Amino acid sequence: MKTNLLEISDIEVCYGDAQALFGAALSVAEGEFVTLLGRNGMGKTTTVRTATGIMSARSGRVQFAGQDVSRWPSYKIARLGLGLVPEQRQVFPNLTVMENLVATAHNRLQHKDPWTLERVYKLFPRLKERAGNLGLNLSGGEQQMLAIGRALMTNPRLLVLDEATEGLAPIVRGEIWDCLQTLKNTGLSVLVIDKNIGPLLRIADTHFILEKGRTVWSGSSPSLLANRDVLQETLGV
Ligand SMILES: Nc1ncnc2c1ncn2[C@@H]1O[C@H](COP(=O)(O)OP(=O)(O)OP(=O)(O)O)[C@@H](O)[C@H]1O
Ligand SMILES: [Mg+2]
Repeated sequence: MKTNLLEISDIEVCYGDAQALFGAALSVAEGEFVTLLGRNGMGKTTTVRTATGIMSARSGRVQFAGQDVSRWPSYKIARLGLGLVPEQRQVFPNLTVMENLVATAHNRLQHKDPWTLERVYKLFPRLKERAGNLGLNLSGGEQQMLAIGRALMTNPRLLVLDEATEGLAPIVRGEIWDCLQTLKNTGLSVLVIDKNIGPLLRIADTHFILEKGRTVWSGSSPSLLANRDVLQETLGV
């Protein structure tokens, strides 16, 4: 059996007095492609914010790479190999594409085949063409490619994408899904939040569904496909 790289167990998380998570749980095994699904405001972003140490849980536990990281600061969790592509992408607007990519590069010495500029440019040829352009001059799709490239330059063991294709044109979405499929084929573990269930049913191994801050369903792509009621009740599709 594969060991879990990330394991979130029954976390409860609050924003001030407002509780957002009431028992969220999910796990990602080595090499697994997992989704976190749910309608707006159900707690998906809060869950990944907690996994990455941006927020901390008042109860429950987050384990990553064999360590209990529940109380760790985010820079330390990132260094352990958790790479986040956040909801708003957050590329540096006044740095060029190349500068954005090298600004965050780290963890290279621990890897026999680390991510380099050349490898990122091979994955996203568009970024090579735009290497000298400022972040603020990129299209939404190019910004997302840059955000993914930047996360890869930290040599993550787990890549987490919050809203992988939100707001992108269909053709660009297709490019992002192709890239994620390529990354999966290299054996990278991936956790994706997105509202486009179709491509995810094709690419992902396992799905977790959140409703009002609780994990209410988990299972494989075939079992989610076969479970029309779950799709309708929890995702409205
Ligand atoms: N900064 C914040 N302060 C207070 N409450 C927040 C904050 N961010 C989120 N919340 C609340 O926490 C709950 C979960 O929000 P979260 O952003 O995690 O949901 P989500 O599933 O990512 O939604 P979406 O699909 O819209 O991105 C919601 O009720 C939301 O209103
Ligand atoms: Mg969100």
